[in-house]
Amino acid sequence: MVNEGMQRQWNSPEFLNMWRGLEPTVSGLTAPLMAALQPKPGERVLDVGCGGGLPTLEVAAAVGPTGSATGADISEDLLELARSRAAESGLRNATFVNADVQVDRVPGAPFDAVFSRLGVMFFSDFVESFSNIGRHMKPGGRLVFVCFQSATANPWFGANILAKYAPPRPPSRFPPPTPLALGEEALTREFLAEAGFRGVSFEAFDDPMDAPFTGEPMSGGMLAPMGLAPDVRAKAMQELLANDQRFVEADRVKTIRKMWIVRANARG
Ligand SMILES: C[S@@+](CC[C@H](N)C(=O)[O-])C[C@H]1O[C@@H](n2cnc3c(N)ncnc32)[C@H](O)[C@@H]1O
Repeated sequence: MVNEGMQRQWNSPEFLNMWRGLEPTVSGLTAPLMAALQPKPGERVLDVGCGGGLPTLEVAAAVGPTGSATGADISEDLLELARSRAAESGLRNATFVNADVQVDRVPGAPFDAVFSRLGVMFFSDFVESFSNIGRHMKPGGRLVFVCFQSATANPWFGANILAKYAPPRPPSRFPPPTPLALGEEALTREFLAEAGFRGVSFEAFDDPMDAPFTGEPMSGGMLAPMGLAPDVRAKAMQELLANDQRFVEADRVKTIRKMWIVRANARG
């Protein structure tokens, strides 16, 4: 299994609990993503790391009954949530499959377009995964994804604190699989070019965050899969909380999440 750690993370009840809380806070990313993707009636579209499937369902509605939307994910719990939302929505052209998109074959290829809302940053090898994605696409097909910019652009995330507590990993040319993994434009361009994508563009946009301050650090959930001893974890939580305080105003966390929309085309 190539992404064993991520399989564990995205299937652990504690981590999933955190993601369920966060999911509504990223709803503002969907409109810019859809504007860039422009799904058309009749198209076959793949959603990578679809999670609970809300963007997959938007695409299913846009491509209509002559098209289809396939969501692929490694979290069986989130896939179940996506399937139940699909059933509630009455959309019959959305399918959800358990697949590690870095290496697995997803049924339904070739796709006209592939997209992702925050689901392409958790691979151990970004060239292998984007190459695999490219193999699922029609020549010239559109790849569009939303991801976070770098740690420097997103100080609210506490990347330096998390890195200090993360377990050691074998040396790799790839950044560790975290939400900020694709934040460095030059590096991500390199991965996409090596994977055979052309016409790559990066568009920066701001996602304002204004939420009640719960007393829990914003990135606290990232510690859950690290297996830290309770006292070490408590110390890490304190440090993350101190970082968060820089963004708290009148009991609300106010910051700007700096995002990329990345567009590319599969080899023609
Ligand atoms: C931040 S969540 C985003 C979920 C969804 N796209 C959304 O916006 O609601 C990241 C998702 O990527 C999935 N994921 C991580 N690694 C993956 C892999 N190798 N193959 C497929 N999905 C993966 C996780 O299980 C998780 O559901």
